[in-house]
Amino acid sequence: MHILITGGAGFIGSHVVRHFLKHYPSYTITNLDKLTYAGNLANLKDVDSELNYRFIKGDITDGNFLQNLFQENSFDGVIHLAAESHVDRSITNPTEFVVTNVLGTVNLLNAARACWQSNYEGKRFYHISTDEVYGSLGREGMFTEQTPYDPHSPYSASKASSDHFVRAYHDTFTLPVVISNCSNNYGSFQFPEKLIPLFINNIVQNKPLPVYGKGENIRDWLWVVDHAQAIDVIFHKGQNGSTYNIGGHNEWSNINLILLLCRIMDAKLGRGAGESEKLITYVTDRAGHDLRYAIDSSKLKRELGWEPSITFEKGLELTVDWYLANREWLDNVTSGGYQHYYEKMYCGR
Ligand code: NAD
Ligand code: DAU
Repeated sequence: MHILITGGAGFIGSHVVRHFLKHYPSYTITNLDKLTYAGNLANLKDVDSELNYRFIKGDITDGNFLQNLFQENSFDGVIHLAAESHVDRSITNPTEFVVTNVLGTVNLLNAARACWQSNYEGKRFYHISTDEVYGSLGREGMFTEQTPYDPHSPYSASKASSDHFVRAYHDTFTLPVVISNCSNNYGSFQFPEKLIPLFINNIVQNKPLPVYGKGENIRDWLWVVDHAQAIDVIFHKGQNGSTYNIGGHNEWSNINLILLLCRIMDAKLGRGAGESEKLITYVTDRAGHDLRYAIDSSKLKRELGWEPSITFEKGLELTVDWYLANREWLDNVTSGGYQHYYEKMYCGR
């Protein structure tokens, strides 16, 4: 098989590329990525010399480029991860999210359709999406695949829109598609604008830990390596036209997660108990902040046998170890434009 992975230089994408290279040495993997601030080829340094791996720098918002790419290559499958992915950035610049996440996805659908339409046999377009399309839960209940869409941020609205287009191409043009909606991922190579790597980096540097609102919002955390495994199973065995929810059955309020992280960091850095906690600073809440996400992934377990492999405590400790052992990676990604982003986002909040 020849698989096109978009956004393979990002956080989850780099784990997916690594997973497929390790488990499917007979496949050819092409990684297409624009290398935005979030894309980093250093995320794939350990695998980029594999003979069955190729990187192409390119932009999914360029429809002509994609049409040519598909004509020049015989891709059997697409795993589409390329996106603008940070909610806070979508509040500052919504249009960029529409262009990349909606137009970019439609461009990819068009290119796959044009190339494959004479024979869809053995082809698959896999769209990676988020649980945020379902909106926000109260204290009870979980998102199932039947939960109506109710996005609140420009990011989740753009992902919801892209999901609708993927389903529309299945229903209208019989394009063989599959979609998954996953909860919050954590692990190595995550850009330190997202909660866990941002807070690890700030604790190391003794900088304030900016908790939005009261820290009561709840997220369902999944180790990124387990997400990559779920993507493998869904790509190979998922039903055409189907949606699968992926989650960790692992709900944490932000403040409880941050307290756990502070305890782990104190132990790892040899600081006194309670030292890192003193950095917690409550700041203005995120606009439109969803209260709670929780994923019911029983369909995925029942139909395809997937389950998360490790506990959150173990996964978080592995994650902390990775960031502490890879300070150079952190320093590299936080130089340049990151400083400007950080000041704009947090100084004076
Ligand atoms: P990320 O921001 O770390 O990576 C996104 C990648 O897409 C980067 O490498 C970037 O360079 C690339 N990209 C952006 N615009 C592009 C363009 N126009 N053309 C080509 N490449 C482009 O994101 P992530 O956290 O790894 O998320 C990957 C996907 O998974 C996204 O679609 C996101 O919506 C989805 N998702 C993320 C999470 C999460 O917790 N991070 C959870 C569920 C779903
Ligand atoms: O649920 C899946 C989604 O998870 C993905 O689709 C998104 O791409 C991904 O970014 C993530 O979205 P969140 O908004 O949930 O993740 P983030 O790490 O930005 O924030 C997690 C929680 O922590 C959220 O309630 C906001 C809060 N937070 C975040 C930051 C960055 C803070 O309190 N302070 C912060 O500085």
